[in-house]
Amino acid sequence: MSILSGKHIILGVTGSIAAYKAADIASKLTQAGALVDVILTGAGEKFVSPLTFQSVTGRKAFTDKDLWGDQAHVMHISLGKVADLLVIAPCTADTMAKLAHGIADNLLTVTALAAKCPLLIAPAMDGGMFDHPATQENLKTLQSRGVWVTGPAEGHLASGLKGTGRMVEPAEVLGQIRVALGQNGELTGKKVIVTAGGTQEAIDPVRVITNHSSGKQGYALAQAALDAGAEVTLITTPTALTPPVGAKIVNVKSVQDMLDALLNESADVLVMAAAAADFRPKHVAQNKLKKRDGIPQIELEAAPDILKTVAGSGSKTKRFKVTVGFAAESRDLLENASEKLKSKGLDFIAANDISAKDAGFAVETNRITLLFADGSQETLPLMTKTEAAEKIIEHIARLLK
Ligand code: PMT
Repeated sequence: MSILSGKHIILGVTGSIAAYKAADIASKLTQAGALVDVILTGAGEKFVSPLTFQSVTGRKAFTDKDLWGDQAHVMHISLGKVADLLVIAPCTADTMAKLAHGIADNLLTVTALAAKCPLLIAPAMDGGMFDHPATQENLKTLQSRGVWVTGPAEGHLASGLKGTGRMVEPAEVLGQIRVALGQNGELTGKKVIVTAGGTQEAIDPVRVITNHSSGKQGYALAQAALDAGAEVTLITTPTALTPPVGAKIVNVKSVQDMLDALLNESADVLVMAAAAADFRPKHVAQNKLKKRDGIPQIELEAAPDILKTVAGSGSKTKRFKVTVGFAAESRDLLENASEKLKSKGLDFIAANDISAKDAGFAVETNRITLLFADGSQETLPLMTKTEAAEKIIEHIARLLK
């Protein structure tokens, strides 16, 4: 189940042109199962109407009229009490100043003062306003109180100028919301490394040996670990995917790059979801191989086995408290996976039947059997890669306990 499902989120919308992007944020949160109560400031209402938010959330959108309505005496308390998170996106310099100084002169700032939940702001203003010492002081004050801040980004501003002041894109705000909500998750305080994608082994400056891995399973694992509160490093080969917000991204190409990147990191958990090459060209041609020279004979050699190096019997010390591998098999699934579990020194392995059309490389779903070092097994039904990732993270949290 998504970390957003059933979460109560207050979305404050203040007076910036970026307010139109808040409708997208409200819509995406609602689609992910969150209960979204929008509070618009008077200036926010000038940019987008409450009806827009009501239409995308299916819930009443609140304005300052409600501050003085028949529920006025309890409105701010009741909204703030039920919320898991208060997000203000966009957050103007004016609202930042009010938050920093405890000023409560509209429904949003009154609610912010009364709320007990974490606060995330996405500042949006002109570059000069953001750079102003007053705003910078307010920002520092808010950060010192544990307020989460995302952005602002650099780029084109409403004034026509370029500078730092743009609200970050809705996807970034949504990612930060997940990170903030995950803070007391089962992996809080733990470091997790996830590898993703297919490695690329160079033949010459233009050609590589690679495979069909899209990185989807690895990226889903990184997101699930973030949702559980972990500090995540995602070591990834080039993919078409957007990296999860909050993860440290390390870009690699070959097995050797991936191994080197891994040896540079320390963590509690390693999840090797990448499809790493078993073989690579023994010699990489310095120049592009030419057709006129005939069909090349490419001699292969064994690529380093990353898991064996960092976790298996060849490894001198146990680098990770929990090490998880994947086995992509087209035949004898459980026998082969079980052999890899032992030879690679893993705590568990996810055996992937890649002969099925709806599992394995590049599709949205997976069919996985988990084989554990203690001999137990769990066969998961067909599920999305996100659901499979959440299951794997649950098992990691159990083993860490
Ligand atoms: O990326 P997607 O399109 O979402 O597809 C997902 C996936 C099919 C790539 C993924 O779920 C998966 O099965 N990954 C492992 C694929 C693989 O390389 O399996 P393997 O049986 O060859 O290797 C076994 C384990 O050893 C894997 O954890 C692998 O990362 C690791 N390995 C492999 C080779 C190598 N040189 N070093 C390694 O550590």
